[in-house]
Amino acid sequence: MRTQVAIIGAGPAGLFLALLLREAGIDALVLERQTQDYVQGRVRAGVLEQVAVELMDRLGIGARMHREGLIHTGTNLAVDGEVFHINFAKLTGGQTIMVYGQSEVMKDLNDAIAARDVKVIYEATDVAPQALDTVDPFVTWCENGVAKRVDCDFVVGCDGYHGVARSCIPASILKTFERVYPFGWLGILADVPPCEEELIYANHERGFALASMRSPTRSRYYVQCALSEKIEEWPDDRIWDEICTRLGPEAAAKVTRGPSFEKSIAPLRSFVTEPMRWGHLFLAGDAAHIVPPTGAKGLNLAVSDVIFLSEALAEYYENGSQAALDNYSTRALARVWKAERFSWWFTGLTHRFPNTEPFDRKMQVAELEYIRSSRAAQATLAENYVGLPLRPN
Ligand code: FAD
Ligand code: DHB
Repeated sequence: MRTQVAIIGAGPAGLFLALLLREAGIDALVLERQTQDYVQGRVRAGVLEQVAVELMDRLGIGARMHREGLIHTGTNLAVDGEVFHINFAKLTGGQTIMVYGQSEVMKDLNDAIAARDVKVIYEATDVAPQALDTVDPFVTWCENGVAKRVDCDFVVGCDGYHGVARSCIPASILKTFERVYPFGWLGILADVPPCEEELIYANHERGFALASMRSPTRSRYYVQCALSEKIEEWPDDRIWDEICTRLGPEAAAKVTRGPSFEKSIAPLRSFVTEPMRWGHLFLAGDAAHIVPPTGAKGLNLAVSDVIFLSEALAEYYENGSQAALDNYSTRALARVWKAERFSWWFTGLTHRFPNTEPFDRKMQVAELEYIRSSRAAQATLAENYVGLPLRPN
């Protein structure tokens, strides 16, 4: 078997890239360890930046998102139960965000993949990229017990944080930068109307809470919890009580309780690998970097990576130039590091750390009060939240 680009992982990074390459007339094969239902069903991100919305449109897969997604022109912050609003659109010259779940994005991607005849092999086990530092790389895997191999020009690791691609880069070359946070997010989905029109990010003495949504009838809530805590320790009543306490009385009065149908605890981590390329291997999305979810940046960074990489691959196949491929890691990392900074900062501003002293909490409250009263501070938050430009001046 031969293809031009072998992509490992059929998450958002892998499928967006496969469709971008198809658009550019470049042949690709996607290898995924899990089943399609599993990848599509994972409850993850909820917020799309303009860059992701525009990519959906450009690929011709944005129609359902525009029908069912919710455009938010701003967000709410809460400090000790007092809620205030930040208007992104006013502060950024009209930019907004789109609330549309990652599982919906995955459905739209998979529909297009099927319609455009892009080849994705699910349940591919033992995927092993090889000869990556030569001009003849290849990937082997196992499919229904049969050993397979594809020869290619390039391999792209879109295989997430726990993938195989990153580990192919020699330790002497790979640099990693990491911050592990001493808490997690307990998330629930429930078929109840959201408590507010736009999201609420709450800093409370007892810890962080986030009120989000998937639709006018489906809510997504998160509360900060200790990493040692177990799901079983969080029956729905306890979660609703905690959400209401942390959001404060004004928002709590509008919270509709109901049975949760999804409940999980996710750890928080900042992580970046440099470089995002070694020989004929490129990394994109979570395979190369992780952000804590506070800034809603993970999925959006996967999108900007694959836009940069598809442009570079298109340039290579159009005129043989390696320049953009050589520049991919530098270009992608420049945007990644800014999103890492924002996500780290927003996490620090809104969460309770185990060693927080009264002074630290006063600093958080003072900064939130400053944001509440300063257009300049709000503009900084807004332009980062809606997403920094792909092509900075
Ligand atoms: P992934 O989605 O991880 O996809 C990688 C794919 O590669 C997977 O399908 C995996 O099965 C496959 N794979 C892995 N190893 C192999 C292998 N060896 N062989 C073959 N295939 C392999 N981001 C936001 O923007 N906002 C949020 O609110 C948000 N919430 C999140 C909540 C949770 C619980 C988690 C875990 C993440 C969240 N994220 C959020 C992050 C966001 O979901 C990710 O950034 C996004 O999924 C990255 O896409 P990706 O394609 O790079 O990686
Ligand atoms: C959601 C998740 C986030 O991490 C975030 O910052 C905003 C919204 C969500 O799942 O809805």
